[in-house]
Amino acid sequence: MSRQTIRGFHQRVGRSMTVQRRGIASAAPSASGHTSSPEHSATANLPSSAYLSPSGNPDFPEAATTGTPADLTRAQRRIIERIIRVDQAGELGANWIYRGQLAVLGRNKSLAELIQHMWDQEKKHIQTFDKVILQHGVRPTALYPFWKLAGWSLGAGTALMGREAAMACTEAVETVIGEHYNDQLTALSKVPHDHPSIPLLAKILAEFRDDELEHLDTAVENDSQKAPAHALLSAIIAGGCRVAIAASERI
Ligand SMILES: [Fe+2]
Ligand SMILES: [Fe+2]
Repeated sequence: MSRQTIRGFHQRVGRSMTVQRRGIASAAPSASGHTSSPEHSATANLPSSAYLSPSGNPDFPEAATTGTPADLTRAQRRIIERIIRVDQAGELGANWIYRGQLAVLGRNKSLAELIQHMWDQEKKHIQTFDKVILQHGVRPTALYPFWKLAGWSLGAGTALMGREAAMACTEAVETVIGEHYNDQLTALSKVPHDHPSIPLLAKILAEFRDDELEHLDTAVENDSQKAPAHALLSAIIAGGCRVAIAASERI
């Protein structure tokens, strides 16, 4: 993806192309209202803290994390189920991508820190969706083992091709995931928001989308586009992600 295309993507999702680099604690709010500093995963007021903080999130009532809407149409229920099923699967895959990258590149201290930071955010994402999927009684994807293997293989395989290829993998994956979270926000707008779990889900999708876009920025700033056969590699990885997403929504 060219730099111009990336800028266009960020503009479409309403986020500036200002790179939120690690170690530069930016105070600029993102689309979800949180800062992109490395400490943000510990910020109590992020929507995901409703699930991950022992004290919850005062912005949401208890029912937001314990209940599910009872009066949805079949089509609305299907929207919720597809969103949650594929996101839990995708976040699992993302965790295994970074695990694979770190297994190969972990001896490079600065690079390992960079990858570990992104992995830590993916851990937050999967921990959240592990709770959301139980809350809403959604069946997990049957492709769960596939996501682990595919994620690790993709992460380790591109890392073996070099640092730039590992970053190109991150760039391609996070571009698709960022777009996907945006599409889900559009789909979720068709579901009534009167049960508090639905506005919370929407805010979590936006929070995680912003994290993924931070990862995309990090990859580009760390030479993803200098990877050998960058365009081909990106197209293959992005295409694979889109196929896996479509399958995991249904299977
Ligand atoms: Fe993620
Ligand atoms: Fe990510």
